[in-house]
Amino acid sequence: MRTMRSVRESAVTWFTTCRSLALLLAAVLATAIPPPTAAGDAVARVGERCGDRIARFHASEDARARGLPSIALAAPLPDLGPVPAGSPVQPTFFEIAGRPAVRIDIEAGTSLYGTGETTGPLLRNGTQVIAWNYDAYGYGPGMPHLYQSHPWVLAVRADGSAYGILAETSYRCRIDLAEYVLFAAEGPPFSVLIIERDSPQEVITTLADLIGRIPLPPQWALGYHQCRYSYCPEARVLEIARGFRDRAIPCDVIWLDIDYMDGFRSFTFHPEHFPDPRRLTDQLHAWGFKVVAMIDPGIKRDPEYFAYDSGSRADAWVKAAGDRDYIGTVWPGECVFPDFTNADARAWWAGLHPKFLANGIDGVWNDMNEPAIFNAEGRTMPLDNVHRADRELGGIGPHARYHNVYGMQMVRATQAGLLQARPDRRPFVLTRANFIGGHRYAAAWTGDNVAVWEHLEGSIPMILNLGLSGQPFAGADIGGFSRAGTGALFARWMGIGALMPFARGHTEKGNIDKEPWSFGQEIERTCRQAIQRRYRLMPYLYTLFREAAETGVPVMRPLFFADPSDPKLRAEDDAFLLGGDVLVIARPLPNSDFSTVRPAGIWRRFDLGLGDGANLELPRIFLRGGAILPAGPVSEYAGQVLLDPLTLYICLDEHGLAEGLLYEDAGEGFDYREGAFRLARYRARQEGETLVLTRERVTGNWPTVDREVVVHLLTLRGMVTGRGRSGATLRIPLAAAD
Ligand code: GLC
Repeated sequence: MRTMRSVRESAVTWFTTCRSLALLLAAVLATAIPPPTAAGDAVARVGERCGDRIARFHASEDARARGLPSIALAAPLPDLGPVPAGSPVQPTFFEIAGRPAVRIDIEAGTSLYGTGETTGPLLRNGTQVIAWNYDAYGYGPGMPHLYQSHPWVLAVRADGSAYGILAETSYRCRIDLAEYVLFAAEGPPFSVLIIERDSPQEVITTLADLIGRIPLPPQWALGYHQCRYSYCPEARVLEIARGFRDRAIPCDVIWLDIDYMDGFRSFTFHPEHFPDPRRLTDQLHAWGFKVVAMIDPGIKRDPEYFAYDSGSRADAWVKAAGDRDYIGTVWPGECVFPDFTNADARAWWAGLHPKFLANGIDGVWNDMNEPAIFNAEGRTMPLDNVHRADRELGGIGPHARYHNVYGMQMVRATQAGLLQARPDRRPFVLTRANFIGGHRYAAAWTGDNVAVWEHLEGSIPMILNLGLSGQPFAGADIGGFSRAGTGALFARWMGIGALMPFARGHTEKGNIDKEPWSFGQEIERTCRQAIQRRYRLMPYLYTLFREAAETGVPVMRPLFFADPSDPKLRAEDDAFLLGGDVLVIARPLPNSDFSTVRPAGIWRRFDLGLGDGANLELPRIFLRGGAILPAGPVSEYAGQVLLDPLTLYICLDEHGLAEGLLYEDAGEGFDYREGAFRLARYRARQEGETLVLTRERVTGNWPTVDREVVVHLLTLRGMVTGRGRSGATLRIPLAAAD
């Protein structure tokens, strides 16, 4: 087994040198694999239309005939005939040292984004990424590959029109954005899919048409989550849970990291530390918590262990060359690894879940699924290991081909397990490794980050680029996984992290405590405000998740979404938009101030009435002119109290108008698919010295509800507050600002 402490400490030291190492690696790769030098390098390509301004290009007829399936896509695409002449984006196929590559030249003024989970800035021009899932503990700022792979680039032209390029390969792939877009894969020839649209938003929603959307999460998954490696034994778990309730800090989920298991065997509980898991989860549920538990892919080679036994009987393991089961070392010692690319193995894996979840486990956390192997070269299994993959994925093939999709196929199986166990509950899975398209199965967190300011700052562009690569449900370990950090960093991190799509505090074994109250009263107060903000914003957040589940547009968006043709907004790393209406100025560095660029138009600062407006440690939030933002009461956990009163923050545009949506459903289950929800649009207009607020039902079968509505109109002079009942048209005099 990896001697965890020493490996991890040296990895943290490595953090400081990692940037130069990565730059060196990039330089070596750049010299080893030069871009094409002459037009003669290019081979004749063929293209087919796959939809409205969607084209797929192949290196040649032969490459088209022999091409592997695109694992990212939710369904195969039709071939609608040849690509019309004069398509604006023209890829050039060629070879680099006998390996396939494709280059797309970009016009001056084009900004590049995407490439998934990456370190560094939001704007990707000039960067290089390797799509290669990797156990990147304590990664440094220049690390070329992290845990997930997204061979995808979003290009926004100077005029705001945009296109996206998906390289249809699951092999290790270099994405070089030096002066062009270049993909170079260590596998057979691959096709590229190009989506041409009038705006980046339309590219992203069309990408979602092709690679699928997230299922609407259970509402509790949008709450605050508390984790550590590990809360153990069960008394400690209960103590942490009580800590939240006693201190009036909202929290929805307590997480169980690997020490809850018996000898790190997935699907088991430690007999002494967790003797009666059902009793524990009953108690947590009674206090309004959900419980998510880790399940790792490495299955201990132990004939007495039921998962090893049943998996061996199902012949579920990845094979080493020569047809023996591949054995690698992870937390439990010698392990075998399910071949998740195979439908039978996935079905066996899914079948392990009902009994396990019956212990009161609400969601599953899949980790180490790059797959990470401690004792192996490159920290993963040999590239010539053999996967007996489904024909739709490409059939039998080497690990080199399936490495990047191992985690994706694992969470596919896990999600199926959750649905098998509880067909009437929405599955929640969190994963470390994934591949573009895998957001259909799991949310993402960005692995083992470090409690330093650079990691807090880097988490903003990282989550933004994940959103621009199809994954809207993501977050970083709040407070930093490794190293202690300081109270100041922790407070700032909680303020920013609580406004990200997935919000979970976590830290590693042996580290200091990192609960919201671990750094003294002052920081506890900031953390309470930060998390309470999230709960006040829950109606808006849930409406945004519903939008992401319907259209694929990310929950957390880059500033340039406000105006894709404004060059000033193209490279902002320290601010973001939550949905279309809330601007978050994050201030992720100790000495940074609040003066970042802002989109044009009216943006009015507001707070959520929690004392949060006066707290300089928290990000500043602004509401867009023309927007109505639905907010709710603070609660201990999502869904604890009715949305009554409904608070509407309103900011009128220059015409004195505003509107906003509110989506409501049961927060759980699938009845919403049969219409059991309410989507309402609120409209506000200024008539002389009066604000008139109306509501119209957009869709959904839920009846309208009679509840109190509190209106906060943000004006130049201050805030005007009015109250009334929903349903009726509200008229609020504007004369007196608070
Ligand atoms: C990995 C995960 C981390 C977890 C640890 C122990 O390092 O990234 O989140 O706490 O394993 O399971």
